Amino acid sequence: MKISVIGCGYLGAVHAAAMASLGHDVVGVDVDAARVEQLSLGEAPFYEPGLGELLTSGLASGRLRFTTDIDEVAAASVHFVAVGTPQSFEGQSADLTYVNAAIEELIPRLAPGSLVVGKSTVPVGTAEQLAFLIDQHAPQASLAWNPEFLREGFAVRDTLRPDRIVYGVPGDKDAERVEKLLDQVYAQALTQGTPKVVTNYATAELVKVAANAFLATKISFINAMAEISEVVGADVTQLADAIGHDNRIGRRFLNAGVGFGGGCLPKDIRAFAARAEELGLGESVAFLHEVDAINMRRRSHVIELAESVFGGDVSGKRITILGVSFKPDSDDIRDSPALDVAVGLYERGAAVVVTDPQGIENARQRHPELHYAPDPSDALAGAELVILLTEWTEYKSLDPHLTRLLVSDQAGPATIIDARNVLDPASWRAADWRYLGLGR
Ligand code: UDX
Repeated sequence: MKISVIGCGYLGAVHAAAMASLGHDVVGVDVDAARVEQLSLGEAPFYEPGLGELLTSGLASGRLRFTTDIDEVAAASVHFVAVGTPQSFEGQSADLTYVNAAIEELIPRLAPGSLVVGKSTVPVGTAEQLAFLIDQHAPQASLAWNPEFLREGFAVRDTLRPDRIVYGVPGDKDAERVEKLLDQVYAQALTQGTPKVVTNYATAELVKVAANAFLATKISFINAMAEISEVVGADVTQLADAIGHDNRIGRRFLNAGVGFGGGCLPKDIRAFAARAEELGLGESVAFLHEVDAINMRRRSHVIELAESVFGGDVSGKRITILGVSFKPDSDDIRDSPALDVAVGLYERGAAVVVTDPQGIENARQRHPELHYAPDPSDALAGAELVILLTEWTEYKSLDPHLTRLLVSDQAGPATIIDARNVLDPASWRAADWRYLGLGR
C-alpha cells in the first residue's frame, strides 16, 4: 500500500520504518529538516534498538523515504498522523496544535477513497471532531483512530508484533471499508494471530489513555506500599513478589522505586484527568491526581534520603548519579525521575556527577549546569554517595567490591541508594556498603 506518516518523532519514525519493512511504500513527513536529513541517511534520531537497521534496509529497498514537503503525501492512500500531543504550556491538558495542523495540511491533499489514521494520543472526542472536519472538506476520505502502545526500548518489536491492534472506525456504512483498508495495512500481524478490536472512535481514544492510566496506577500503588513498608519495616520487593503470584494481579509493573517518567505516562494521566474535568467527570478519575502525587513524591523522597545520609545537608558533597534517562535502553530524558533528582541535589549545593550509557547528551542540553561523566569509573571516583536511578544492565551488574574501591576512602562504609530496588542488598552490605533501597 502507499502510506504516508505525518510526524517522524518517536512514534512516526518507528512506524514509517516498520511499515516499509512490511512491504508498504512509505513516505515520512516532518517539519524538522535536520531530522528528515538524519532519517534519510538511515540514522535513528534517538537511541532505539533495531531502528537504525530497519531504516537502512527500508531506504535501500526504495520503499522508504523522508521529506519536509507535505505535497509528497498526495500519492498515498493511507495517511498516519503520528505527531506529538505534549502537555500544554498553560496547564495539564494535551496540546492539539500539531494534530490540528497535520489534519489541515492533509485535507487538501486527500485523494478520493483515502484514509486518515490517527495514531497520536488525544483527548477523547478529538476523532469525532476531526472526522467532521474531513467530512466537510474532503467528503470522499475517511478517518480511523488506531492508537499505538509502543514502549521505548522495544518500539520496533512492539510495532511489528503488537499485543493487540485497535481500530476506531466511523459509525456509518464506511466502517467496513475502513476496517478492510486497515486489515491490508496490518495483514502480517493479523495473519500471525494478533488480536484485533474494532470499536467506535471514543473507545479507541480511551483505550490508549486507559491503558497508560492503569499502568501508572499500578506503579503508584506499589510505590504507596513502599511508603508504608519503609515505616513499618516491611520489604516492598517481597510484597510485590508475593502479591504478584496472584495471576489476577501479576508481577509486571510492580517495581517500586523512584517512579515513572517519560514522554507518555505522566502527561497522559494529566491530560486524561483534564479531559474528564472538561466533561464534568473529574470525579471518575480524581484518583489519577493521587497517582501523580505519589509518583512525584518518590523524587523528593530520594532527595530527602540523600540529605539524611549527610545529616540533612548535601552541600559540597560529591554525589554520583547512575542513570539519567527515564528508563533503561532509552536516551529519553523527558520527565525523567533521575534527572529531576540530580537537579534537585545540585540545587541544594551537592557536587553532582551524572553518568548514563545513552542519555548524557539529551540531559546536557536540558541541564548544562550538571557535571557529566560518560565513563562510570570516572563518575564513581571519589563519590561520597552513589544513587542508582535508572536500572541499566551495566549498573545492575556492578561489582560491589570493585565499586567500593572506586569511591572515596571515607571512614566507615560507603553509601548507595538503590532507587530502583535492583541490587542485592546482602552482597552490597558484605562489600562494606551501607545499602539503602526504597521501601525495603
Ligand atoms: C509507556 C507504555 O508502556 C506504552 O504502552 C505507551 O505506548 C507509552 O508509554 P514507555 O513510556 O516507553 O511506555 O515506558 P514504560 O516501559 O511503560 O515505563 C514507564 C515508566 O515507568 C518508566 O519511567 C519506568 O522506569 C517506570 N516503571 C515501570 C516503574 O517505575 N516501575 C515498574 O514496575 C515499571
